[in-house]
Amino acid sequence: MSASDVIDVEYEQPACSTQHAWARVPVEPTPTQRVALKDKIKRLLKEKNAVMVSHYYVHPDLQDLAEETGGLVSDSLEMARFGRDHSAQTLVVSGVKFMGETSKILSPHKTVLMPDLDATCSLDLGCPISEFSAFCDAHPDRTVVVYANTSAAVKARADWLVTSSCALDIVKALKDKGQKILWAPDKHLGGYIQRETGADMVFWEGACIVHDEFKAFELEALIKEHPKAKVLVHPESPQDVVALAHAVGSTSAILKAAQTLDADTFIVATDNGMLHKLRTLNPNKTFIEAPTAGNSATCKSCAHCPWMAMNGLAGVAQVLELGTNEIQVDAKYLDRARLPIDRMLAFTAALKNGQPVGGLIPNIGAA
Ligand code: 13P
Ligand code: SF4
Repeated sequence: MSASDVIDVEYEQPACSTQHAWARVPVEPTPTQRVALKDKIKRLLKEKNAVMVSHYYVHPDLQDLAEETGGLVSDSLEMARFGRDHSAQTLVVSGVKFMGETSKILSPHKTVLMPDLDATCSLDLGCPISEFSAFCDAHPDRTVVVYANTSAAVKARADWLVTSSCALDIVKALKDKGQKILWAPDKHLGGYIQRETGADMVFWEGACIVHDEFKAFELEALIKEHPKAKVLVHPESPQDVVALAHAVGSTSAILKAAQTLDADTFIVATDNGMLHKLRTLNPNKTFIEAPTAGNSATCKSCAHCPWMAMNGLAGVAQVLELGTNEIQVDAKYLDRARLPIDRMLAFTAALKNGQPVGGLIPNIGAA
């Protein structure tokens, strides 16, 4: 591949695509193509004043290359903060659409590119703005707290944005101020936050199609096989799976728990893209994927997000070369959607610096 070749992204159907005709994954590059693609991306990042921002669930190549080139691999909260604060004019976001949109909302003057604009999220898809607006209208006395995995339109209807790494702290602070919560869209994460904080919450009925597949009865059997293992669970998982966890938290919290908990073996209930970083940072520890149901069925979930899987090296090279797949956010949502994101970033920054957060909570809804 010469430096001037325009990259074509080739896709194939994943092995499990029988139920989803839309599903596609980039064809895995050969070792020679991989080296050429990485070299090309490194050159283009410099030429275009661009930086890579990757999520822990995307292909290991995109995680490693982001770090090698001065970009970031992280959870969704830190992706948003990094994109906002970095001086590069172009952000190449490998993840799913809401992550690119959040970056664009925070940095409307930057160019935000994504390898595949069809990479979305079941939580975003399951929370259309018209129905969500009606739900909010039916509960005017509640503070509207939405998960980052939502459209710009839904964010523009929210008082607060949260990710799984800060939802607990933010809802607790809202509860301490006497506020009642309207929560959307992930029912499992919402239920977990409600159980932990005791806040008064009403819930939207959304779920992540990846985490929803982890099953407690299979996990219990696996724990019996590995009695010394510690169980790490993302809170988008069902309640009975969360109940078996030694640590519950965002992708970053899972990573931290694997480094700090006293164990050599871990069972991990989150998207299996996470295993790359877990294994790289902890080469002497063993990580086992938590089981999904369906042993006797024709389809067993592979525990990998079908939309995260759409991201690949060829896509990154192509969008950098051609400037295609630019994320646009409807101007009518831009400013209003920024408000709950800014609140979240200010709150989490204060928390990190040990500053008081009470003053950051506006008085919303009936106390
Ligand atoms: P984190 O915020 O924990 O990275 O999670 C994002 C996500 O989509 C989990 O499925
Ligand atoms: Fe959405 Fe689940 Fe994929 Fe995360 S893993 S992007 S919550 S579908």
